[in-house]
Amino acid sequence: MSMYVAGSINWTAAHAEQGMQLLVRSITQEALGIRTFELVHPHRNALPAFEAGAHVDVQVPGGPVRQYSLCNAPAERYRYLIAVLRVDRGRGGSTGMHQHVDVGDLLEVSAPRNQFELAGVAQRHLLIAGGIGVTPLLAMVEALSARQADFRLVYCTRSIDHTAFTDRLEEHLRAGRVSLHHDDGDPTRALDLLALLARQEDGTHLYCCGPAGLMQAVKNATAHWAVGSVHFEYFAPSSASTAPADGDGFEVRLARSGGSYHVPPGRSIIDVLRANGVACETSCEAGVCGTCRTPYLEGTPLHQDFVLTSQEQTKFVLICCARSSSAVLVLDR
Ligand code: FES
Repeated sequence: MSMYVAGSINWTAAHAEQGMQLLVRSITQEALGIRTFELVHPHRNALPAFEAGAHVDVQVPGGPVRQYSLCNAPAERYRYLIAVLRVDRGRGGSTGMHQHVDVGDLLEVSAPRNQFELAGVAQRHLLIAGGIGVTPLLAMVEALSARQADFRLVYCTRSIDHTAFTDRLEEHLRAGRVSLHHDDGDPTRALDLLALLARQEDGTHLYCCGPAGLMQAVKNATAHWAVGSVHFEYFAPSSASTAPADGDGFEVRLARSGGSYHVPPGRSIIDVLRANGVACETSCEAGVCGTCRTPYLEGTPLHQDFVLTSQEQTKFVLICCARSSSAVLVLDR
């Protein structure tokens, strides 16, 4: 049996920046097209702690960097568990994980980051998952269950064969804290969101992760909910991320270094800065991870990310995807 030594390594900010090489200890087929990858430290050291809702960046062998939510219990320090749905016509990350990663391989993994945290003020938690979007919510189920909080998970999939983690959810299914909804691919059998939301009491916080259609439906149905009580985790860019036309582009200025660069249509701020020798830290480059968050001082950004709250948008911009409706956008860097 392997030994895991909690606290035997002092993870610092530098470690977090550098990422880690983690060993693939096991791979499990969880449902149709879904595999979990159990990642541990090669010397069985404890891993950096994470909170429910966190994700890590994984360097897919020979492919892109992809973000995957951690779906094991946050109290577990000896492993990270990620689940990957194979999408054959995707951007290459999931097929790379399914085809090129084996037990015993080492993967480059970042420290956990969290933009989908449980709200400390919530009296009740309603979790709505669609398909592989269940992964961050599964960690939430573990965390909420451990603290005996009031929660309910509604997990929507096409069929029972497409439903992962039923073994881990079994006890909660029996207790009525988790319910499954299968639509068999028929849109007319989609979850009755309005009926579900009509039963929610004041003080409930809602967390949703799933396909763009489900997220949009939840967004529409909760438009009247209190600000800050509905939380989304976007795990892939939707069509909404299509760059808007901005004429001839705009100018980006760096307040501290004094640089000034033209950002033409079709190129991102990051592209332009890098081309001019300005180092930029990024990960997803799709507006879903928050790594490129940058404060701005002047101008009117056209935000196109899935991360910033409307309050944060008044101060920060994600420069991998944002554009500008003003002629000049001044960044505080
Ligand atoms: S790099 Fe991920 S949001 Fe910009």
